[in-house]
Amino acid sequence: MTAPVSTDAVPTTGQLRQALPLVSVRNLEVAYTGEPVLAGVDLDVRPGEMVALLGASGSGKSTLMRSLTGFAPITAGTARVAGYDVTNLRRGDLRKLRSDVGQVFQQFNLIPRLSVLTNVLTGALHEAGPINLTGGFGSRHRRQAMEYLDRVGIAHKAKDPARSLSGGQQQRVAIARALMQQPRVIFADEPVASLDPKLAGSVLELLREIAREDGIPVLVSLHVLPLALRHCDRIVGLRHGRVLVSAPAAQLDAQQLSVLYDEEGQPGDHH
Ligand SMILES: Nc1ncnc2c1ncn2[C@@H]1O[C@H](COP(=O)(O)OP(=O)(O)O)[C@@H](O)[C@H]1O
Ligand SMILES: [Mg+2]
Repeated sequence: MTAPVSTDAVPTTGQLRQALPLVSVRNLEVAYTGEPVLAGVDLDVRPGEMVALLGASGSGKSTLMRSLTGFAPITAGTARVAGYDVTNLRRGDLRKLRSDVGQVFQQFNLIPRLSVLTNVLTGALHEAGPINLTGGFGSRHRRQAMEYLDRVGIAHKAKDPARSLSGGQQQRVAIARALMQQPRVIFADEPVASLDPKLAGSVLELLREIAREDGIPVLVSLHVLPLALRHCDRIVGLRHGRVLVSAPAAQLDAQQLSVLYDEEGQPGDHH
């Protein structure tokens, strides 16, 4: 018997780095107080892909994302994000880790009275340091912010106050703001839960495009199953803080994902 011969070329260091997961979680446990909220969680997010964290309300999606940026206490296991060992950060690295992770939230978290452009510029604050929000950004940052606004399709709204935009447009501003950080990876926690279904699809497609074309992988939490199946490359399904499903979306159907939900098939509340 001879070993199978691989005809693949030996990958270069650059190719290896390309293929390394930006997020790599093993046997993760998170406990706020008392009982763990997450246990035995494994997760990888690789370059080019958009991974859905799917699960009912209370299953632990937000907690998992928070733990990966040091906002929820990891009590066991390992987590690497953008090259940082989250469970063993050196002094000063927590701030750097957070600046390498672009965050997108359900409620957009824009500053309503400030212009769209200024909101995007705040994404560069970690780089610029404390500055005057209205006049403190240089032309390089402004040009870059306009490019990102163009990227997300709302450059024509740059001067309008953020509060005057629709929900879908506000989420696009929030995505441009995240891009302004030049993140290595994007975490989006229920980014479409406040949008109607049509807008939800277009915002998820924008995030997926960013994962594929801009090389910034996206971890996105969703509680609606069809959105995860339709718009994500892989699905990691949580129930009661444990991973019950982890597979490419193309290999899954609604039936296989029903284990994540109550018998009625509806996202349940397990508090
Ligand atoms: N800050 C907190 N302190 C204590 N328990 C929390 C906290 N945040 C969330 N939990 C609990 O952790 C579990 C998972 O919540 P969460 O991560 O918000 O789930 P999801 O985002 O999937 O709805 C729930 O039982 C919730 O009550
Ligand atoms: Mg949540």
